[in-house]
Amino acid sequence: MSNYSLGRWRKADAALGQPVISNQVQFSLAHPGPLQDMVPFAEPENRMVIAYSPLAQGPLGGKYSVGNRPGGVRMLNPLFGRENLQRAAPLLDTLRQVAAAFDAKPAHVALAWLLSLPRVVVIPGASSVQQLTTSS
Ligand SMILES: NC(=O)c1ccc[n+]([C@@H]2O[C@H](COP(=O)([O-])OP(=O)(O)OC[C@H]3O[C@@H](n4cnc5c(N)ncnc54)[C@H](OP(=O)(O)O)[C@@H]3O)[C@@H](O)[C@H]2O)c1
Repeated sequence: MSNYSLGRWRKADAALGQPVISNQVQFSLAHPGPLQDMVPFAEPENRMVIAYSPLAQGPLGGKYSVGNRPGGVRMLNPLFGRENLQRAAPLLDTLRQVAAAFDAKPAHVALAWLLSLPRVVVIPGASSVQQLTTSS
């Protein structure tokens, strides 16, 4: 399933008569909501939380800022608005600092945080071969 709340996930279990194994949801350092309910549910129940947009569609890769916003459809993402990019600046700074301490990139840290959680996998979207080979 995708984009089911925990309540709907439970209802889907009941309707199917057996556990629905996975739920693909928006989940990242910028959208940590599933940490509150999906992750605590998934671990004891042996379910999988599939984190989509784990880099928040790009900002958690560390490249974007108020002075460098992407064009195209991502302008519709509220996180790319000037005010939200300003609010996200401390998070992005922390990501860069942690990454530098481990000779890594912000994207590595953002994905590693998710992968450190039980029963969570990530499906980042790479826009180049280089991103694909450096995000794991
Ligand atoms: N089920 C659903 O409703 C749903 C909704 C949305 C997405 N998804 C799925 O989620 C997957 C990925 O989500 P997404 O593409 O929206 O978001 P994402 O993985 O959070 O962000 C992708 C963007 O992050 C940047 N990036 C990727 N790898 C990087 C790296 N190593 N270093 C720095 N930046 C990097 C790239 O931005 P730049 O191009 O700017 O470099 C790329 O376009 C896809 O499979 C998609 O189908 C599912």
